[in-house]
Amino acid sequence: MDNIVEIRNLTKIYTGRKGETIALNGVDLDIARNEFVTIVGPSGCGKSTLLNILSGLLEPTSGTVLCNGKPIEGTSADRGVVFQQYALFPWLTVRKNIEYGLRRKKIEDSSRKGWHRMSEEDIRATSAKYMEMVQLQDFAESYPKELSGGMKQRVALARAYAANPELLLLDEPFGALDAQTRTQLQQDLLEIWEKEKKTCLFITHDIEEAIILGQRVIIMSARPGRIKEIVDIDIPYPRDQRTKMSERFNEIKNRIWSQVYEEYLEDRK
Ligand SMILES: Nc1ncnc2c1ncn2[C@@H]1O[C@H](COP(=O)(O)OP(=O)(O)O)[C@@H](O)[C@H]1O
Ligand SMILES: [Mg+2]
Repeated sequence: MDNIVEIRNLTKIYTGRKGETIALNGVDLDIARNEFVTIVGPSGCGKSTLLNILSGLLEPTSGTVLCNGKPIEGTSADRGVVFQQYALFPWLTVRKNIEYGLRRKKIEDSSRKGWHRMSEEDIRATSAKYMEMVQLQDFAESYPKELSGGMKQRVALARAYAANPELLLLDEPFGALDAQTRTQLQQDLLEIWEKEKKTCLFITHDIEEAIILGQRVIIMSARPGRIKEIVDIDIPYPRDQRTKMSERFNEIKNRIWSQVYEEYLEDRK
């Protein structure tokens, strides 16, 4: 099995003024290369903590977290992140936002034993490709303030994909969008994933979203955060919104829902 991510006995404890919070307690998880994994669980169960450790923004308290067999040391262009809030630069156009990371990207150059930067031509071609993929080609020269919430999140997706990371980490990226826009973005993401098969770890509190996107859904338990169950989603791709009406989808949804509801009740105690 070719695993891109290997997590063993991961624990994260935050120490603050109010004492210690055990955010993650003994998490084991492997993610295979090209896999699409989604995570659901009650608020505060440690989902963002797990994602931030993988991105390199946070350090584990104990345990091992390997990416390509190596411990994670800080952030890296190999691991792209998309958050709920659009982290776009307001003073740059859509195109320039997408190109920002590309202009800074260092590319290994084995022939010259060093690295070089992307050519202006390649940068243009790459941003054009991903703007088209998220249907934003007509907004290339627009500024973020001229875009709807859904369009801004499309830019964030295009920017993350254009940088060509090995692993894409998405923390409730569609969480702030209305239901219809959310559905459209799910569709866009499914189409991109089927084209590029980039490894994705996607956090959501929406169970339908977790099932329609993922090959596996990880259910996390309430504090302290652990993995409660991993559900294989044996529904073939391509999937679309009609998939949500199938009997199999609803069986899986009910099963996951009852697990998550159990955790919700546990959390309220
Ligand atoms: N920087 C921090 N300092 C102290 N506690 C934190 C910090 N970040 C998160 N926590 C706590 O850790 C737990 C998990 O948080 P988080 O990973 O954000 O959960 P989720 O994303 O599942 O809602 C929560 O109880 C939260 O209050
Ligand atoms: Mg969170």
